[in-house]
Amino acid sequence: MSRIAYVNGRYCAQSEASVNIEDRGYQFGDGIYEVIHIHEGRFVDTDLHLARLARSLREIAIPAPMDDAALLVVLREVVRRNRVHEGIVYMQITRGVARRDHAFPRHVRPALVITARHGAAFPRDLASWAGSAITVPDIRWGRCDVKTVNLLANCLAKQKAREAGCYEAILIDRDGMVTEGSSTTVWAVDAAGVLRTRHLDDHILPGCTRAALTTLLHEAGIGFEERGLTEAEFRAAREIFLTSATSFVKPIVRLDGSPVADGAPGPVTARLFELFARHADGPAHNTANRLAPDATGRLATDAAGRLAPAAGIG
Ligand code: PDD
Repeated sequence: MSRIAYVNGRYCAQSEASVNIEDRGYQFGDGIYEVIHIHEGRFVDTDLHLARLARSLREIAIPAPMDDAALLVVLREVVRRNRVHEGIVYMQITRGVARRDHAFPRHVRPALVITARHGAAFPRDLASWAGSAITVPDIRWGRCDVKTVNLLANCLAKQKAREAGCYEAILIDRDGMVTEGSSTTVWAVDAAGVLRTRHLDDHILPGCTRAALTTLLHEAGIGFEERGLTEAEFRAAREIFLTSATSFVKPIVRLDGSPVADGAPGPVTARLFELFARHADGPAHNTANRLAPDATGRLATDAAGRLAPAAGIG
Protein backbone atom coordinates (compact mmCIF):
# COMPACT_ATOMS: atom_id res chain seq x y z
CA MET A 1 0.00 0.00 0.00
CA SER A 2 1.50 3.36 -0.94
CA ARG A 3 1.76 5.92 1.84
CA ILE A 4 -0.50 8.95 1.78
CA ALA A 5 0.67 12.40 2.81
CA TYR A 6 -1.22 15.62 3.45
CA VAL A 7 0.46 18.51 1.64
CA ASN A 8 -1.06 21.99 1.82
CA GLY A 9 -4.69 20.97 1.67
CA ARG A 10 -4.38 17.82 -0.45
CA TYR A 11 -3.99 14.13 0.33
CA CYS A 12 -1.62 12.56 -2.15
CA ALA A 13 0.60 9.54 -2.67
CA GLN A 14 3.73 10.24 -0.65
CA SER A 15 5.96 9.06 -3.48
CA GLU A 16 4.51 11.86 -5.63
CA ALA A 17 4.23 14.54 -2.93
CA SER A 18 6.53 17.52 -3.40
CA VAL A 19 7.15 20.99 -2.07
CA ASN A 20 8.35 24.09 -3.89
CA ILE A 21 12.16 24.46 -4.10
CA GLU A 22 11.78 27.94 -2.61
CA ASP A 23 9.99 26.68 0.46
CA ARG A 24 11.77 28.40 3.35
CA GLY A 25 11.90 25.16 5.29
CA TYR A 26 14.01 23.69 2.51
CA GLN A 27 16.20 26.77 2.03
CA PHE A 28 16.60 28.07 5.59
CA GLY A 29 15.26 25.42 7.94
CA ASP A 30 12.62 28.08 8.65
CA GLY A 31 9.94 25.85 10.12
CA ILE A 32 8.89 23.70 13.03
CA TYR A 33 7.61 20.16 13.51
CA GLU A 34 6.00 17.71 15.90
CA VAL A 35 6.00 13.95 16.25
CA ILE A 36 3.12 12.19 18.02
CA HIS A 37 3.18 8.53 18.92
CA ILE A 38 0.21 6.42 17.80
CA HIS A 39 -0.46 3.51 20.11
CA GLU A 40 -3.31 1.07 19.49
CA GLY A 41 -4.77 3.60 17.08
CA ARG A 42 -4.72 6.45 19.61
CA PHE A 43 -2.57 9.53 19.74
CA VAL A 44 -0.51 9.75 22.93
CA ASP A 45 -0.30 13.13 24.73
CA THR A 46 -1.75 15.04 21.81
CA ASP A 47 -2.72 18.04 23.92
CA LEU A 48 0.90 18.45 25.01
CA HIS A 49 2.18 18.15 21.43
CA LEU A 50 -0.38 20.61 20.06
CA ALA A 51 0.43 23.10 22.82
CA ARG A 52 4.14 22.83 22.02
CA LEU A 53 3.43 23.16 18.29
CA ALA A 54 1.53 26.40 18.97
CA ARG A 55 4.37 27.67 21.15
CA SER A 56 7.02 26.84 18.53
CA LEU A 57 4.99 28.70 15.90
CA ARG A 58 4.60 31.72 18.18
CA GLU A 59 8.29 31.82 19.05
CA ILE A 60 9.31 32.13 15.40
CA ALA A 61 6.26 34.15 14.31
CA ILE A 62 4.68 31.69 11.87
CA PRO A 63 0.86 31.92 11.88
CA ALA A 64 -0.95 28.64 12.58
CA PRO A 65 -2.23 27.26 9.25
CA MET A 66 -5.42 25.98 10.94
CA ASP A 67 -6.89 25.65 14.42
CA ASP A 68 -6.36 22.59 16.61
CA ALA A 69 -9.75 21.02 15.89
CA ALA A 70 -9.14 21.19 12.12
CA LEU A 71 -5.58 19.96 12.54
CA LEU A 72 -6.81 16.98 14.53
CA VAL A 73 -9.23 16.08 11.74
CA VAL A 74 -6.37 16.08 9.24
CA LEU A 75 -4.02 14.17 11.57
CA ARG A 76 -6.66 11.48 12.05
CA GLU A 77 -7.37 11.32 8.36
CA VAL A 78 -3.69 10.81 7.50
CA VAL A 79 -3.47 8.08 10.14
CA ARG A 80 -6.65 6.46 8.80
CA ARG A 81 -5.55 6.57 5.18
CA ASN A 82 -2.22 4.97 6.09
CA ARG A 83 -3.89 2.43 8.42
CA VAL A 84 -1.38 3.10 11.17
CA HIS A 85 -2.21 1.35 14.43
CA GLU A 86 1.27 1.57 16.00
CA GLY A 87 3.62 4.25 14.75
CA ILE A 88 3.97 7.98 14.48
CA VAL A 89 2.36 10.95 12.85
CA TYR A 90 4.73 13.72 11.74
CA MET A 91 3.67 17.28 11.04
CA GLN A 92 5.79 20.10 9.73
CA ILE A 93 4.92 23.74 9.26
CA THR A 94 7.27 26.06 7.40
CA ARG A 95 6.97 29.78 6.82
CA GLY A 96 6.04 29.11 3.21
CA VAL A 97 7.30 29.76 -0.30
CA ALA A 98 8.98 33.04 -1.25
CA ARG A 99 11.85 34.43 -3.30
CA ARG A 100 15.02 33.71 -1.34
CA ASP A 101 15.73 36.46 1.18
CA HIS A 102 16.77 35.91 4.79
CA ALA A 103 14.21 38.36 6.22
CA PHE A 104 10.62 37.14 6.54
CA PRO A 105 8.58 37.58 3.36
CA ARG A 106 5.29 39.44 3.57
CA HIS A 107 1.99 37.88 2.51
CA VAL A 108 3.19 34.30 2.57
CA ARG A 109 1.08 31.34 3.59
CA PRO A 110 2.61 28.73 5.93
CA ALA A 111 3.11 25.30 4.37
CA LEU A 112 1.78 22.25 6.23
CA VAL A 113 2.88 18.69 5.56
CA ILE A 114 1.66 15.66 7.53
CA THR A 115 2.79 12.06 7.18
CA ALA A 116 2.20 8.91 9.22
CA ARG A 117 4.14 5.71 9.37
CA HIS A 118 4.02 2.32 11.00
CA GLY A 119 6.43 1.61 13.83
CA ALA A 120 7.37 -1.30 16.03
CA ALA A 121 4.83 -2.30 18.66
CA PHE A 122 5.11 -0.51 21.99
CA PRO A 123 7.96 -2.15 23.98
CA ARG A 124 6.88 -4.50 26.76
CA ASP A 125 10.19 -5.99 27.81
CA LEU A 126 12.47 -3.57 29.62
CA ALA A 127 15.69 -5.52 29.20
CA SER A 128 15.34 -5.84 25.44
CA TRP A 129 14.34 -2.16 25.18
CA ALA A 130 17.61 -1.06 26.86
CA GLY A 131 20.22 0.66 24.73
CA SER A 132 23.59 2.34 24.80
CA ALA A 133 24.76 5.91 24.28
CA ILE A 134 27.82 8.01 23.65
CA THR A 135 28.49 11.57 24.79
CA VAL A 136 29.29 14.34 22.30
CA PRO A 137 29.66 18.13 22.58
CA ASP A 138 26.44 20.12 22.28
CA ILE A 139 27.15 22.40 19.29
CA ARG A 140 23.56 23.59 18.76
CA TRP A 141 22.15 27.13 18.69
CA GLY A 142 20.66 29.17 21.55
CA ARG A 143 16.96 28.35 21.06
CA CYS A 144 16.78 24.59 21.41
CA ASP A 145 13.42 25.03 23.16
CA VAL A 146 11.86 25.66 19.73
CA LYS A 147 11.17 22.42 17.86
CA THR A 148 12.62 23.65 14.60
CA VAL A 149 13.35 21.50 11.55
CA ASN A 150 16.88 22.95 11.73
CA LEU A 151 18.37 19.71 13.02
CA LEU A 152 21.83 19.52 11.47
CA ALA A 153 23.73 19.47 14.79
CA ASN A 154 21.31 16.81 16.09
CA CYS A 155 21.81 14.74 12.91
CA LEU A 156 25.62 14.95 13.21
CA ALA A 157 25.39 13.80 16.83
CA LYS A 158 22.98 10.93 16.04
CA GLN A 159 25.21 9.79 13.19
CA LYS A 160 28.17 9.56 15.60
CA ALA A 161 26.02 7.41 17.86
CA ARG A 162 25.06 5.12 14.98
CA GLU A 163 28.69 4.78 13.89
CA ALA A 164 29.55 3.77 17.46
CA GLY A 165 26.72 1.19 17.36
CA CYS A 166 24.71 3.19 19.90
CA TYR A 167 21.10 4.34 20.14
CA GLU A 168 21.68 7.89 21.24
CA ALA A 169 24.24 10.69 21.48
CA ILE A 170 23.96 12.60 24.75
CA LEU A 171 24.96 16.23 24.45
CA ILE A 172 27.36 17.94 26.87
CA ASP A 173 27.46 21.74 26.80
CA ARG A 174 30.49 24.04 27.08
CA ASP A 175 30.09 24.19 30.86
CA GLY A 176 30.34 20.42 31.12
CA MET A 177 26.61 19.96 31.83
CA VAL A 178 24.38 17.32 30.25
CA THR A 179 21.70 19.03 28.16
CA GLU A 180 19.68 16.31 26.37
CA GLY A 181 19.97 13.59 23.76
CA SER A 182 20.10 14.36 20.03
CA SER A 183 16.36 13.53 19.92
CA THR A 184 15.50 12.64 23.52
CA THR A 185 15.22 14.01 27.07
CA VAL A 186 17.86 12.66 29.44
CA TRP A 187 17.16 11.51 33.01
CA ALA A 188 19.41 9.95 35.62
CA VAL A 189 19.31 8.56 39.13
CA ASP A 190 22.43 10.14 40.62
CA ALA A 191 24.95 8.49 42.96
CA ALA A 192 22.87 9.66 45.95
CA GLY A 193 19.75 8.00 44.51
CA VAL A 194 18.01 11.23 43.41
CA LEU A 195 16.02 11.11 40.16
CA ARG A 196 17.03 14.15 38.11
CA THR A 197 16.49 15.78 34.74
CA ARG A 198 17.72 19.16 33.57
CA HIS A 199 15.60 22.25 34.25
CA LEU A 200 13.81 23.75 31.25
CA ASP A 201 15.24 26.79 29.52
CA ASP A 202 16.33 27.85 26.02
CA HIS A 203 18.96 25.10 25.81
CA ILE A 204 16.71 22.03 25.69
CA LEU A 205 13.43 21.03 24.12
CA PRO A 206 10.58 20.80 26.64
CA GLY A 207 9.77 17.14 26.01
CA CYS A 208 6.10 16.15 25.97
CA THR A 209 6.99 12.69 27.27
CA ARG A 210 8.94 14.42 30.04
CA ALA A 211 5.86 16.53 30.87
CA ALA A 212 3.60 13.45 30.91
CA LEU A 213 6.11 11.59 33.07
CA THR A 214 6.44 14.42 35.57
CA THR A 215 2.66 14.32 36.05
CA LEU A 216 2.85 10.54 36.56
CA LEU A 217 5.69 11.06 39.07
CA HIS A 218 3.64 13.59 41.04
CA GLU A 219 0.62 11.28 41.00
CA ALA A 220 2.73 8.34 42.19
CA GLY A 221 4.42 10.44 44.87
CA ILE A 222 7.87 9.81 43.41
CA GLY A 223 10.29 12.66 44.09
CA PHE A 224 12.56 14.11 41.42
CA GLU A 225 14.61 17.23 40.85
CA GLU A 226 14.79 19.43 37.78
CA ARG A 227 18.51 20.02 38.16
CA GLY A 228 21.09 19.42 35.47
CA LEU A 229 23.90 16.92 35.92
CA THR A 230 27.58 17.60 35.41
CA GLU A 231 29.35 15.16 33.14
CA ALA A 232 31.07 13.63 36.21
CA GLU A 233 27.75 13.20 38.04
CA PHE A 234 26.28 11.64 34.92
CA ARG A 235 29.11 9.12 34.61
CA ALA A 236 28.63 8.17 38.27
CA ALA A 237 24.85 7.73 37.85
CA ARG A 238 23.14 4.61 39.17
CA GLU A 239 20.62 4.70 36.33
CA ILE A 240 20.23 6.60 33.07
CA PHE A 241 17.16 6.63 30.86
CA LEU A 242 15.78 8.63 27.96
CA THR A 243 12.27 9.77 27.13
CA SER A 244 10.66 10.84 23.85
CA ALA A 245 7.58 10.19 21.75
CA THR A 246 9.45 7.34 20.04
CA SER A 247 11.74 6.17 22.89
CA PHE A 248 9.03 6.19 25.62
CA VAL A 249 11.09 5.34 28.72
CA LYS A 250 14.32 3.81 27.42
CA PRO A 251 17.03 2.53 29.76
CA ILE A 252 20.62 3.36 28.83
CA VAL A 253 22.86 0.62 30.18
CA ARG A 254 26.17 1.50 28.49
CA LEU A 255 27.71 4.94 28.21
CA ASP A 256 30.77 5.56 26.05
CA GLY A 257 31.49 1.83 26.08
CA SER A 258 31.30 1.35 29.87
CA PRO A 259 28.38 -0.16 31.79
CA VAL A 260 26.09 2.22 33.67
CA ALA A 261 26.25 0.87 37.25
CA ASP A 262 25.91 -2.92 36.85
CA GLY A 263 24.92 -2.64 33.18
CA ALA A 264 21.25 -3.59 33.65
CA PRO A 265 18.13 -1.37 33.80
CA GLY A 266 17.64 -0.11 37.36
CA PRO A 267 14.56 -0.21 39.61
CA VAL A 268 13.54 3.45 39.12
CA THR A 269 13.70 3.10 35.34
CA ALA A 270 11.69 -0.13 35.59
CA ARG A 271 8.98 1.59 37.66
CA LEU A 272 8.73 4.54 35.27
CA PHE A 273 8.69 2.23 32.24
CA GLU A 274 5.64 0.54 33.81
CA LEU A 275 3.97 3.84 34.72
CA PHE A 276 4.42 5.20 31.23
CA ALA A 277 3.19 1.99 29.61
CA ARG A 278 0.03 2.21 31.71
CA HIS A 279 -0.36 5.85 30.68
CA ALA A 280 0.04 5.01 26.98
CA ASP A 281 -2.33 2.05 27.26
CA GLY A 282 -4.84 4.00 29.30
CA PRO A 283 -8.22 5.39 28.32
CA ALA A 284 -8.75 8.98 27.18
CA HIS A 285 -5.94 10.93 28.78
CA ASN A 286 -5.72 13.98 26.61
CA THR A 287 -7.82 16.48 24.77
CA ALA A 288 -7.58 14.82 21.41
CA ASN A 289 -8.75 11.54 22.77
CA ARG A 290 -11.61 13.22 24.61
CA LEU A 291 -12.61 14.67 21.25
CA ALA A 292 -12.42 11.25 19.63
CA PRO A 293 -15.69 9.68 18.53
CA ASP A 294 -15.29 6.72 20.83
CA ALA A 295 -15.45 7.26 24.60
CA THR A 296 -12.43 5.02 25.17
CA GLY A 297 -10.36 7.47 23.20
CA ARG A 298 -9.69 5.03 20.39
CA LEU A 299 -10.05 6.20 16.84
CA ALA A 300 -13.30 4.88 15.47
CA THR A 301 -13.06 1.45 13.89
CA ASP A 302 -15.51 -0.49 11.78
CA ALA A 303 -16.78 -3.98 12.63
CA ALA A 304 -13.61 -5.54 11.26
CA GLY A 305 -11.47 -3.31 13.47
CA ARG A 306 -10.33 -1.12 10.60
CA LEU A 307 -9.91 2.58 11.25
CA ALA A 308 -12.97 4.49 10.13
CA PRO A 309 -13.10 8.20 9.28
CA ALA A 310 -13.02 10.40 12.35
CA ALA A 311 -16.31 12.18 12.94
CA GLY A 312 -17.96 14.61 15.27
CA ILE A 313 -14.99 16.82 16.01
CA GLY A 314 -15.14 20.54 16.46
N1 PDD B 1 12.30 14.17 19.20
N2 PDD B 1 14.84 16.61 22.84
C1 PDD B 1 14.98 16.66 21.51
C2 PDD B 1 16.15 17.40 20.93
C3 PDD B 1 14.03 16.03 20.68
O1 PDD B 1 14.16 16.10 19.34
C4 PDD B 1 12.96 15.32 21.26
C5 PDD B 1 11.90 14.66 20.42
C6 PDD B 1 12.87 15.28 22.67
C7 PDD B 1 11.73 14.59 23.37
O2 PDD B 1 10.50 15.25 23.15
P1 PDD B 1 9.13 14.43 23.17
O3 PDD B 1 9.09 13.73 24.47
O4 PDD B 1 8.12 15.49 23.05
O5 PDD B 1 9.15 13.48 22.01
C8 PDD B 1 13.82 15.94 23.42
C9 PDD B 1 11.34 13.64 18.27
C10 PDD B 1 10.76 12.34 18.73
C11 PDD B 1 11.95 13.58 16.89
O6 PDD B 1 12.65 14.52 16.54
O7 PDD B 1 11.70 12.64 16.14
